[in-house]
Amino acid sequence: MSSNIRIGDLTVNRLGFGAMRVCGPQVWGPPKDRAGAHRVLRRAIELGVNFFDTADSYGPHIDEELIAEALHPYPGGLVIGTKGGLLRPRPSAWEPDGRPAQLKSAIDGSLKRLKLERIDLYQLHAPDPKVPFADSVGALADGQRAGKIRHIGLSNVSVMQLEEARDIVTVVSVQNKYNIGDRSSEEVLKACERLEIAFLPWYPLGAGAVLRSKKILGVSGKITATPSQVSLAWLLAKSPVMLPIPGTASIAHLEENIAAATLKLSAEDLAALD
Ligand SMILES: NC(=O)c1ccc[n+]([C@@H]2O[C@H](COP(=O)([O-])OP(=O)(O)OC[C@H]3O[C@@H](n4cnc5c(N)ncnc54)[C@H](OP(=O)(O)O)[C@@H]3O)[C@@H](O)[C@H]2O)c1
Repeated sequence: MSSNIRIGDLTVNRLGFGAMRVCGPQVWGPPKDRAGAHRVLRRAIELGVNFFDTADSYGPHIDEELIAEALHPYPGGLVIGTKGGLLRPRPSAWEPDGRPAQLKSAIDGSLKRLKLERIDLYQLHAPDPKVPFADSVGALADGQRAGKIRHIGLSNVSVMQLEEARDIVTVVSVQNKYNIGDRSSEEVLKACERLEIAFLPWYPLGAGAVLRSKKILGVSGKITATPSQVSLAWLLAKSPVMLPIPGTASIAHLEENIAAATLKLSAEDLAALD
């Protein structure tokens, strides 16, 4: 298993960091301990993480601001993937807005907050049923032509939507929900394997639920690895295009999760998990 993965012409380590959890409760507002959030982000860099996933809707805006506060000027080789296309009118709402004008201003907002001249990976957070998908993807293509985006990714898409987008732009990644207990995006994962593009499973730990799975607990009880490490090692073994982005606001959990990058599960354990 390679320890690296490609995002277009960029190479990153295969365990990334999902930064959504460092903002306030319900991914809304600032964290209670802003300095603590900075420490988590900086510790991820120290541990060798060089891919961070965020979105303008986390906070909203606060997650991107925290990343810039903690990490800018960015170390060489750091790749930040952000997303646009979801609005947060209130904490419980995540509303798609894929209108080209909205996406154009979202790209500009992310550039400013992240203090970047070009975003390495800009992902459409989710298709907007009210807007032709090609129009939303076209807005990202415009951003790329304008030099504001290096690579384009998609999130929460079907295989058909991935193919439709590929008629318009080069797509380098897909970010869909996937973990040992929810494999509903298996076909999308297979498409990413065929296309040799990165698949970023969101909720790799099922937002914590996977850690209580009987299968996971069975294997972690047998070997010297925690449930989160077994879950992440299973994902890494599952596919060469897998780039998990576990999230946490805890340095201890971060250290535990990143250690999973070197955990090799036996064929017997992998079979028990499948
Ligand atoms: N594209 C999308 O639509 C979408 C949707 C959701 C998320 N995402 C992205 O995917 C990333 C990952 O998703 P996620 O953060 O929601 O879920 P996750 O990684 O599956 O799980 C995170 C949860 O598990 C806990 N946790 C993490 N490590 C742990 C450990 N070692 N032991 C025990 N508990 C642990 C965290 O709590 P503690 O803080 O207490 O550790 C947190 O509550 C996000 O950060 C975000 O970047 C994308």
